[in-house]
Amino acid sequence: MRKKTIYDIPDLAGKKVFLTVDFNISLHDGKIANDTRIVEALPTIKYLLKKKAKIILASHLGRPHGVDLALSLKPVARRVGELLKCKVNLIDHFWDKKVVEKISKLKNDELTLLENIRFFPGEEENDRDFAKHLSTMADFFVNDAFGTAHRVHASIVGIAEFLPSFAGLLMDKEVKMISDAMEKPKRPFLLIIGGAKTPEKISVIERLLDIADTVALGGAIANTFLAAWGFGMGRSLVDYEMVEMARVVFWKTTRKHSALILPLDVVISDRDIKLRPKVVPYNKVPHNVVIYDIGPKTQKHYSELIKEAKTIIWNGPMGLYEDPRFTKGTDTILKSIAESKAHTIVGGGDTLTSIKQQKYLAKISHVSSGGSAMLSFLEKGTLPGIEVLLNAK
Ligand code: 3PG
Repeated sequence: MRKKTIYDIPDLAGKKVFLTVDFNISLHDGKIANDTRIVEALPTIKYLLKKKAKIILASHLGRPHGVDLALSLKPVARRVGELLKCKVNLIDHFWDKKVVEKISKLKNDELTLLENIRFFPGEEENDRDFAKHLSTMADFFVNDAFGTAHRVHASIVGIAEFLPSFAGLLMDKEVKMISDAMEKPKRPFLLIIGGAKTPEKISVIERLLDIADTVALGGAIANTFLAAWGFGMGRSLVDYEMVEMARVVFWKTTRKHSALILPLDVVISDRDIKLRPKVVPYNKVPHNVVIYDIGPKTQKHYSELIKEAKTIIWNGPMGLYEDPRFTKGTDTILKSIAESKAHTIVGGGDTLTSIKQQKYLAKISHVSSGGSAMLSFLEKGTLPGIEVLLNAK
């Protein structure tokens, strides 16, 4: 089954489009640290504007924790306005029918951005009434938020019940690029997984052992797998609750044709990083140290695997990339992937933040805007936010 995209909407002139996007960007001192997610949504917005549609944008920013105050999308509204050179009306209290009427009276060449939707009651619960209320604002629903398509929320899933629903251009591109790599990978197919979030990533590894030829690990997830082999990891980040599961994955690996590769050496220091960083083999990590990066032998080994591979998917940094002393592992992987002639896909919020060298990004076949969404898509081959588009009337 094929999902419909915005190109399938017959007549957009004067029509209202509820456009869900992923503007969950990182802010530093109230300023946008990286606007990639906004820039990536521009082709869909520009297309809709060109067709004279009226756009109502919805996005979340951050997560509600207890009584936390909602982060405002004000900096995002400003940036969208700068990039598109148009007025962006940031609308709060949009559960109010009068506000919906006000939205419908706004000019066509002005954009409407609903204030941080995740913080409104009903959104996270995928409440039917809230979804229905959102649908009253528009004639069509377009989802361009691949990064949040794994969430069963009202502005992602629920709203599709009430409006003709279509995929935006970014959503369409993400699904196509990742599905192609998974369905018809040129071999050898290499998957590189780093970062923490072990519970989320371990099931992806398990699933991809069926498809990939090699799975290479770095970052905290590699510590958990090394611990599962029985090696002491000192005071490093290890998800001990996942150690048993890691053993199951090893056992499964022996029954598949794929190889699960772990670091040969690691870069260590003390907890406060006062000691000069030092390289030790994976099986000689002292009890009082922390692993902060993959070592040079591992970097070389992984670079060789990258050179041989014809399809590469990478998600998650190799170490504590925020500290310049520990960026070597992540940088080497990025440089090797950028130099490779393979079909290359890179994703994950942390991975993208860790990539400071934009020149390398340009050489990657597809840079995914999804973090957890990309992982979930790799694991399941679909996402709730995509399913509703496939089943749309
Ligand atoms: C992301 O940053 O990966 C997406 O915006 C999803 O964010 P969430 O995990 O807060 O739903």
